[in-house]
Amino acid sequence: MNAKPANHLVSIAVDGPVGAGKSSLCDALAGALGILHLDTGAMYRAIGLYTLNAGIRQDDEDALKRMIELEDARVTVDFIDGQQVTLLNGVDITSRLREEAVGIAASAVSKHAVVRKYLVRLQQQIAKERSLLIDGRDIGTVVLPDAKIKIFLTASAEERAMRRYRQLLDDGKGADYHKVLMDLKARDEQDENRAVDPLRPADDAVILDTTGLRFDESLQKMLDIVNKAYES
Ligand code: DC
Repeated sequence: MNAKPANHLVSIAVDGPVGAGKSSLCDALAGALGILHLDTGAMYRAIGLYTLNAGIRQDDEDALKRMIELEDARVTVDFIDGQQVTLLNGVDITSRLREEAVGIAASAVSKHAVVRKYLVRLQQQIAKERSLLIDGRDIGTVVLPDAKIKIFLTASAEERAMRRYRQLLDDGKGADYHKVLMDLKARDEQDENRAVDPLRPADDAVILDTTGLRFDESLQKMLDIVNKAYES
């Protein structure tokens, strides 16, 4: 494994659909490069959690506008021992973010321009201060359009669903593969067809399809993309 040390501000944008292995691969890649990993999905999840706690319907555009304007849902991130901690109004809510209901709420609030504008600005501010690998859905297209390195990570829907299914079984949660696959396709559809900042590869992104690849093979391919970008 080989990677160029980050000795100046480096921004790496990684986008891709749900279940492409972004979180774990990005953690490993950032670790190998010695930079921090910002998971922007956690920020949408924080807003989703706020709406659940505050009883705001995720399709109530006016209520979402008020929430942002009045700064009722202040999202901040911190890095402790290299790991992202996500705060909502100063309270660490990291442990709540993987809940299924929070993911669904996050997906629904992420359709709204007012929410996206707030979080995109925050993400751009964070990226100005330090070298980062940022993962999300719109990083290469909207958040960091000038990033030197853009990777679009994908895999077949069936393989992504199988990975998710195995993860649920490993976590001791019962799961039905066909339901997992249908939910995943519905999330893809929602992310790709959203009117504001839909999921799509930036024109200058390298597309990495990890179907049939092991974790270490996918990671090595990401490292190869980074190294190649620094050679040119
Ligand atoms: O990656 P994730 O599952 O934690 O993301 C949660 C939701 O947030 C997902 O439905 C898509 C949305 N999201 C987004 O719209 N833009 C991002 N940059 C990151 C996530």
